[in-house]
Amino acid sequence: EDDRFLEGKKVLVTAGPTREAVDPVRYFTNHSSGKMGFAIAEQAASMGAEVTLIAGPVNLETPPDVERIDVSSAHEMYEAVIKRSAESDIIVKAAAVADYRPKTVYGQKLKKQNEEWSVEMERTIDILKTLGKRKPSGQVLIGFAAESERVEEFALGKLEKKNLDMVCANNITQEGAGFSVDSNILTLYKKDGSKIELPLQSKKDVAIKILHDAVKMLKEKTVT
Ligand code: PMT
Repeated sequence: EDDRFLEGKKVLVTAGPTREAVDPVRYFTNHSSGKMGFAIAEQAASMGAEVTLIAGPVNLETPPDVERIDVSSAHEMYEAVIKRSAESDIIVKAAAVADYRPKTVYGQKLKKQNEEWSVEMERTIDILKTLGKRKPSGQVLIGFAAESERVEEFALGKLEKKNLDMVCANNITQEGAGFSVDSNILTLYKKDGSKIELPLQSKKDVAIKILHDAVKMLKEKTVT
């Protein structure tokens, strides 16, 4: 059996959180460890793909045969992804990108005051949505959805609005799923209306399944 079925294909993966600075000391972030995205990058490379991994700040080693680009903010991730998106056959966006960032980034450390402090936030660019808008016809675009309620409804909304081929939905309230742990529980929703439920398993096994489906979708695109 040929298990190097991604030979000659370019795969772009994003992983980890982003950091949105408010001053030189403080930032906003989330609980992503990068494990899900790194597992996908590692498996794609072992299947023969040429893999670029764009990683937010994480404490993980670069998987073998993977080109890694480290970024910090959502904007840096956006620039790194957009630069490489057109040439990619498969893009998997497992990163937990900040939706908001502080409107003002102070050059000096803010001194504490006696009164309350509120930070005004502005929207970041939606990287995935941008990719969906400019998706080349032969490209497979896969997003994630981290939800704590109405998982199917919100995931299907992202599939449609961001012009994805597949969305991998995790219900982050389930034990063993989502942020930081070594396992995940996902439901994959495809553009063709099909739905695949992946019970609790390692992020490595989840990664293999996502990539198998990605290859199938890639083949369908080249046939039609
Ligand atoms: O890193 P781990 O600890 O292993 O955890 C894995 C995970 C929970 C982070 C991962 O499985 C996951 O669900 N990743 C997506 C988390 C997320 O940000 O979901 P979202 O529903 O907020 O975003 C939807 C999609 O849009 C994601 O593919 C995200 O990368 C993308 N997005 C979001 C905002 C933005 N500004 N740009 C984006 O591209």
